Amino acid sequence: MSIQPSKTEEVREELRAASSIAVLTGAGISEESGIPVFRGSDGLWKQYRAEDLATPEAFARDPRLVWEWYDWRRSRIAAARPNPAHEALVLLENHCPGFALITQNVDGLHDLAGSRHVIKLHGDIWTLRCQHCGTVKSDRRVPLPEIPPRCACGGLLRPGVVWFGEALPPAAWQAAVQAAESCALFLVVGTSAVVYPAAELPMLAKHRGAKLIEINFEPTALTPLADYSFVGKAGEMLPQLVS
Ligand code: OAD
Repeated sequence: MSIQPSKTEEVREELRAASSIAVLTGAGISEESGIPVFRGSDGLWKQYRAEDLATPEAFARDPRLVWEWYDWRRSRIAAARPNPAHEALVLLENHCPGFALITQNVDGLHDLAGSRHVIKLHGDIWTLRCQHCGTVKSDRRVPLPEIPPRCACGGLLRPGVVWFGEALPPAAWQAAVQAAESCALFLVVGTSAVVYPAAELPMLAKHRGAKLIEINFEPTALTPLADYSFVGKAGEMLPQLVS
């Protein structure tokens, strides 16, 4: 699939001229790095039940099972490298003073690509948090030597991610809302935009007068709201728009 030249040029001009840009990314931006997305025919939630693996109740019931799944995901992510879509966003950050990158991804590929300020709405798969003493630590070992891992205090460590039914980290959410409310352009890349509250952000931006640009492999619920919608792979589309 390719972009119509006139639309591409228009959006390139919008990106060049904008004093502030906010970007929301989802699993689709890391798909070309080899990390499975959640929804769709090959999505993780087709093979696994979120209720068994990504809720506080699931972890309380069977921490070993939950950790085995996260350990497997960590190993997939550890083998992955940022793709041209992640790299294009680094370029955009370097050229736009009022730039904010908001992600629902826990894979850390934006950091690895070189993005400097990443607002992580759903946490970070490389951090572990003690359920007993609250200590948060970074641990990139793959596989983890002990499953489920334990804190020095003896408490059970959990993945430092947000599970279904949990609140988002307040500081990250506040920063995301502020960026959405104040940007001139809001770019949405590779998200099905069905998980709230993250999915509110594009609408918030649009209501505040921002132009909405969407890049996705297929149309989503956001597509009718978008000022520009590009259907295709993020790793091909984004570099064309941000060169
Ligand atoms: P989804 O799996 O719901 O959606 C991925 C989106 O990316 C879909 O709309 C695909 O069409 C699109 N896509 C796939 N490959 C693409 C590519 N190469 N280029 C562009 N688009 C592509 O993932 P998210 O929207 O990120 O939450 O899911 C949101 C949240 O639901 C996740 O953060 C996770 C999940 O359950 C938690 O774990 C709390």
